[in-house]
Amino acid sequence: MIRGFGLLLAVLFCTCLGVHRENFRTCDQSGFCKRHRNLQPGTSDYVVQPSSLRLSKTSLMVDVINTKNNVRFLLQAYGLQHGIFRVKLVEAEPIRQRYEIPIGVTLVAEPEQVELVYQGESNGQLKFSLGDNQMVINVNPLRLDFLINNEPVSSLNAQGLLMFEHTREKRPTKEEADEGTNEEGAAEKEEEKPSDDEDDTGMWEETFKGFSDSKPNGPTSVGVDIAFPGFRYVYGIPEHADSFALKTTKSTDPYRMYNLDVFEYELYNPMALYGHIPFMVAHNDKHTVGVFFQNAAEGWIDIQSNIADKSVFSNLADFVTGNTDVPQTDTHWFFEDGIIDVFVLLGPGPKDVFKQYASLTGNTPLPPLWAIAYHQCRWNYNDQDDVRTVDQTMDKFDIPFDVIWLDIEHTDGKKYFTWDGSRFGDSVEMLRNLSSKGRKLVTIVDPHLKRDDNYEKYTDARNQGLLVKNKDGNDFDGWCWPGSSSWPDFLEPKVREWWADQFSLEKYQGSANNLYVWNDMNEPSVFNSPEITFPKDVRHLSGVENREVHNIYGMLVHQATWDGLLKRSGYKERPFVLTRAFFAGSQRSGAVWTGDNMGEWSHLKMTVPMMLSLNLAGIHFSGADIGGFFKNPDSELIARWYQAAIFQPFFRAHAHIDTKRREPYLLPEDHMIVARDAIKKRYSYLPYWYQLFYESETTGMPPMRSLWMEFPSETNVFEKDDQFMTGN
Ligand code: NOJ
Repeated sequence: MIRGFGLLLAVLFCTCLGVHRENFRTCDQSGFCKRHRNLQPGTSDYVVQPSSLRLSKTSLMVDVINTKNNVRFLLQAYGLQHGIFRVKLVEAEPIRQRYEIPIGVTLVAEPEQVELVYQGESNGQLKFSLGDNQMVINVNPLRLDFLINNEPVSSLNAQGLLMFEHTREKRPTKEEADEGTNEEGAAEKEEEKPSDDEDDTGMWEETFKGFSDSKPNGPTSVGVDIAFPGFRYVYGIPEHADSFALKTTKSTDPYRMYNLDVFEYELYNPMALYGHIPFMVAHNDKHTVGVFFQNAAEGWIDIQSNIADKSVFSNLADFVTGNTDVPQTDTHWFFEDGIIDVFVLLGPGPKDVFKQYASLTGNTPLPPLWAIAYHQCRWNYNDQDDVRTVDQTMDKFDIPFDVIWLDIEHTDGKKYFTWDGSRFGDSVEMLRNLSSKGRKLVTIVDPHLKRDDNYEKYTDARNQGLLVKNKDGNDFDGWCWPGSSSWPDFLEPKVREWWADQFSLEKYQGSANNLYVWNDMNEPSVFNSPEITFPKDVRHLSGVENREVHNIYGMLVHQATWDGLLKRSGYKERPFVLTRAFFAGSQRSGAVWTGDNMGEWSHLKMTVPMMLSLNLAGIHFSGADIGGFFKNPDSELIARWYQAAIFQPFFRAHAHIDTKRREPYLLPEDHMIVARDAIKKRYSYLPYWYQLFYESETTGMPPMRSLWMEFPSETNVFEKDDQFMTGN
């Protein structure tokens, strides 16, 4: 067992560099991705029933029917404050309730509704206005156009790619049905049996790399195309290691959104990474608009930017008159489960879109001043002497720092909330020494609990029934750093409360008020599972499958940690929590870093587009490991990295356990001086940074900005992502 685990770790974390692509599904290896991607643009089977229109002052409801199979849906639309439309499409009579993310998880509160004016029906269209903005519902087929001052800027289902896989009972296979044809009820069976052109393959069970996904609810995916007429560029949908302006996915996989621990991720590809935010912004010299697709399941997004190509979009062409060179971006979004719940943010400028998005998912609370200063981290500082030496040597070399970090090795056998007694026998004294200089300590607390009968956090969670279950209803058992582990079900409010309580000074023995927290591996990372995360049919305590909620799990971990630190201080102090996994709304309770990058120039360059995307999508407090996590960068690269990172929001050096020590004072003198000067500059800029975070909290403006955010009509900067602005 132990040997097997060692081998597995060796395979996962060997020094052979390069992503193990084969660990992760491609679109071709995912049934629902293939089903949506194979749809051809054309007319849609979904038709609105205008006679069923029900109106309230701020919303509408109308029936929609899929004319191919007569399944009925309910389309709801709301007018929201600040110029936002919300559109929801749900099944009218689902045989099983679909998951909808509760208020307070992504949405900070129930969005405030404002008057939506019905302007009547004409030419097969229902027309509505919301201030200067309009929404037009085309009846047959269903299409929703969004306009700013009568100019179309976005359209749903213009290509007819809407597909909502309705809830259903499992049908007998063709063979099973054929066997039954001579028996009583043959006619009924005949109806249920799949027709020759319907293929159930992969709908009720799928396998990947020998792992079987039981899919008890069958096919449940939803998807729709969203077009941006007049826009050549779209941005956002982090986290991908790719350019800031999103690329066309014609000859690659779609951009994938599924929180995963991707070891040694590759640059410039659309593979999923640790966290995801289904928020996209389109920008041109006149308008900025955003689309937020609230869905917690695995998603994929195809993108095509066309210039002067309206062939796939001819049904909107009547809007776009007189100009044959109109650019357009067509996107296609599909998720494995959940509902269609789309917020269309009609700007019209960048600042408006950021304000609109923050009104939905919340702001970044102003961090404590020390948290935007310099953080010194590595995997690992070995013991208390090591911590003291770093602390003193930084002072000796006159290099300012505010925070030192302890990675997983500080614990007793990877049991979080504990200390390795032989190396950190008096953590309170260590914390006191740091505190005497106003310094802080951050310790890592991962969400996996070692399955050890002598580990109180585990036995407590197990005995209280707080753990995530496998498909058979037993506590899920998977491998992570401590070996065999289980995971608290952070979807349950009572579990989050239990977790938050663990950060009190009584429960987290050896901690102190100047100790803050780092949540890692919270995608969650599970070494021996498909795609290194929970199997999709893992069950949460409420009965939902992880498939339905996967992308919010990590965020709920750091939300609970945040609550714990708040509680510890009697709700008086601003907490600090760093998280690797995230989702829309994470900004309210965590800083984010871009995970395991490499000590290479290309990765330094990539910090800019990655952080611009995060900043655009509300994750303002974000950074990348200075120096790069893997490899041994040379001293010039390290010095340059410090120089760049002082202009990025979260400022922390970090390195893998197998790398050479590289605290800034260890650099050769010439580069040490460069790095020290940079760090000192960061300190001199702290008032400006603090001001930017204040602006972020109060207006939703990101501190790190692309050039177009400041110069929205300068078309030649729309693609730039090797330059950026810190504030204005
Ligand atoms: C993975 C994290 O991304 C990395 O920063 C950390 O050092 C290791 N886990 C060990 O905890």
